[in-house]
Amino acid sequence: MTPARPGPGSDALRETLAYYRDLGVAELYLSSSFTFEENAPYPAASPTARLASASDLQSLAKEVSDCVTCRLCKTRKQTVFADGSPDARIMFIGEAPGADEDAQGLPFVGRAGQLLTRMIEDGMGLPRSSVYIANVLKCRPPDNRNPEPDEIASCRGYLERQIDLVKPEVLVALGKFAAQFLLETEEGIMRLRGKWGSYRGIPVMPTFHPSFLLRQPAQKKEAWEDLLAVLARLGIEPPARRGKAT
Ligand code: URA
Repeated sequence: MTPARPGPGSDALRETLAYYRDLGVAELYLSSSFTFEENAPYPAASPTARLASASDLQSLAKEVSDCVTCRLCKTRKQTVFADGSPDARIMFIGEAPGADEDAQGLPFVGRAGQLLTRMIEDGMGLPRSSVYIANVLKCRPPDNRNPEPDEIASCRGYLERQIDLVKPEVLVALGKFAAQFLLETEEGIMRLRGKWGSYRGIPVMPTFHPSFLLRQPAQKKEAWEDLLAVLARLGIEPPARRGKAT
């Protein structure tokens, strides 16, 4: 689900500018000819390659929807597989679906999801539909409790196969559970964030989970630095610099 890009003069534009201000961005440089979709720096993969991985992902999603490997199958409304493009250069990985995601069958659609969407669209200047978003767990833990180690172990293969099929150039680990999963460490997110790690040769940037940022907005600056590092690694200009004369 991709929310509409704010139009000039709208409340959404005011919110976007407030969002940049929170991040510490003081000036924006957008040329009058800038259009969002045209400038999305995503080279298209060949249509055949795209179809191949999309259909493999569809079969995997079907397998996940039938999964009864752990106790969470008894309490979920539905599984939550992923959202976004099978061609994505960037894959975001969260923890587990919450109530909104369980109801809609899509990751990051509740309050934390709305913040993640703003981080991607307003902060990074990329359409949400151009990245790939998944979680460590595919089913909601009751009462939004933390994932249990055996649940993570049962679900492990699904995320590993998603990463194999999407083959992102960069993985962004949102919060402790995703970072510990990808980096095979017990280290906390405070120590891990902002430092590049690696998962099977793919660079991993651990950063704060959007739910944490909703509780601790002062930490948005650090998350913004992490996302800037991701853009720099991919050679993508941050939107605040796009259209600026060199
Ligand atoms: N938090 C997550 O980690 N994932 C979601 O999909 C929603 C909230």
